[in-house]
Amino acid sequence: MQPLNQTPAWYELSRLADTFRGRSLPSLFDADTARAQTLALEACGLYLDYSKQPVDATVLKALLDLARQQDVTGWIARMFAGERINHTEDRAVFHVALRAPRNAAFKSGSQDASADVHRVLDRMASFADGVRKGLLRSATGEMFTDVVNIGIGGSDLGPRMVNEALVDFADGPRTHYVANVDGAQLEAVLKRLEPARTLFIVTSKTFTTLETMANANAARRWLVRALGEHAVGEHFVAVSTNLPEVRKFGILPDRVFEFWDWVGGRYSVWSAVGLALLISLGSKRFGEWLAGAHAMDEHFRQAPLEANMPALMALLAVWNRNFLGGATQVVAAYAQKLESFVAWLQQLEMESNGKSVHRDGSAVTVDSTPALWGDVGTNGQHAFFQMLHQGSEVHPVDFILPVLGSHPWLDQQRMLVANCLAQSAALMRGKTADEVREELQGKLQGEALEAAIPHRVFPGNRPSSTLLMPRVDPFHLGALMALYEHRTFVLSVLWNINAFDQWGVELGKKLAQTVLQAMSGQAADLDPSTAELLNKSLKY
Ligand code: F6P
Repeated sequence: MQPLNQTPAWYELSRLADTFRGRSLPSLFDADTARAQTLALEACGLYLDYSKQPVDATVLKALLDLARQQDVTGWIARMFAGERINHTEDRAVFHVALRAPRNAAFKSGSQDASADVHRVLDRMASFADGVRKGLLRSATGEMFTDVVNIGIGGSDLGPRMVNEALVDFADGPRTHYVANVDGAQLEAVLKRLEPARTLFIVTSKTFTTLETMANANAARRWLVRALGEHAVGEHFVAVSTNLPEVRKFGILPDRVFEFWDWVGGRYSVWSAVGLALLISLGSKRFGEWLAGAHAMDEHFRQAPLEANMPALMALLAVWNRNFLGGATQVVAAYAQKLESFVAWLQQLEMESNGKSVHRDGSAVTVDSTPALWGDVGTNGQHAFFQMLHQGSEVHPVDFILPVLGSHPWLDQQRMLVANCLAQSAALMRGKTADEVREELQGKLQGEALEAAIPHRVFPGNRPSSTLLMPRVDPFHLGALMALYEHRTFVLSVLWNINAFDQWGVELGKKLAQTVLQAMSGQAADLDPSTAELLNKSLKY
């Protein structure tokens, strides 16, 4: 295989980057007065403005040539056809089937994925309905008032984030999420709950994850202490692909909701992993959220590359990362309800594309995914935005702005919107020494004025995209999440990486077992630093 950095499209982009670096973003608006309208795109109720990205028609054409060279369209078709594109685990990648309608007829090999998905969705809906209406009751005959999802990573981040984001639409029992093996989290949740009214959902694709099994066993002990062993059947539900392990835990077969190996953990929220969400939101809202994601899937599958929102966002990310030296990727959602969005996105992007080899195992010749981080606006403005404006490196930003709030404080919503729009404008424009001088006229003079100027200058030219959406509602949240999922996939295709395995998390898990062995006095092969840290820890 030709190294990626020596391919024709990569060469052309490198050449363009050399000529492009000197051009300021404001000058691009001078050169093309319709830029704000033409470098924008609408899909599924989301509006993407990328006019503040350092691109022009020539760069965009070269980026699209890269997409064609890397066969983005072919890979999209392969994913939707249920091919085993996760080749290191020999699995299809079919999360799009999870949100497709009943008649979608998605097939992976001989497996009728659509039929399987809707069979489980129907079971989930009837179970959720039973809990919500009090038809399914606790061992003591009471209604469940609280549902605790026990899971970690993809078995936690997605449902928790969506539950928080859609809290205004939740009318079922209260939901709680426990992920960390740090018992402090479990304790904080359990101490507020009544065993006789609490339903546990143990969510784990593998049903072997240390954190989840530890929390599930502790929760089981807590319940049995209060209600006795016989209560476990009524109070525990499992969501997993590993049915034999679930059986061993003692969860009844009719309380198990399965999914399939073609659903990656970080893409699994749309499967039975979303059961707590369904109980909280009810079928109608849950269906709207799936429909939003499906609408984005259809856009992704059908739109030509130049009008394909996930593909364009991925191309802009590669341009910033690989050609203009963007240090990291920042995401700032201007909505308190999206407080956990970045955490969900971090797993999605960094567990998918944080790799150093291509699909064929050869070392990458270009940088793969940068760190992705951020916080909600306006909070981030008072924490790390200083660095975005005046730091020595450039960090491209995605601003996400649900324009309409879901609260009665309309004047504050106006302030939120104004701040989001102002930040992207400030990052682009910057502030020159002359502007600072004028601003300080009459306040400082002479040497004091000149000394103050460099500290107040903003370099500007810092790229951002802005995504507008009407509000944080089920449909648009579904579309937003699917947009980022597909952006991640296209990035992997552009970098020729398998986005769907995660071998990098294995070693740490294994070594934790070794340390646990050493802690219980067994011989264990530890390096001197780790052995010493363990010795010290055991003395506390
Ligand atoms: O962090 C590794 C990982 O395997 C993730 O990919 C996954 O989302 C998480 O652990 C939880 O895994 P499981 O659902 O199997 O418990």
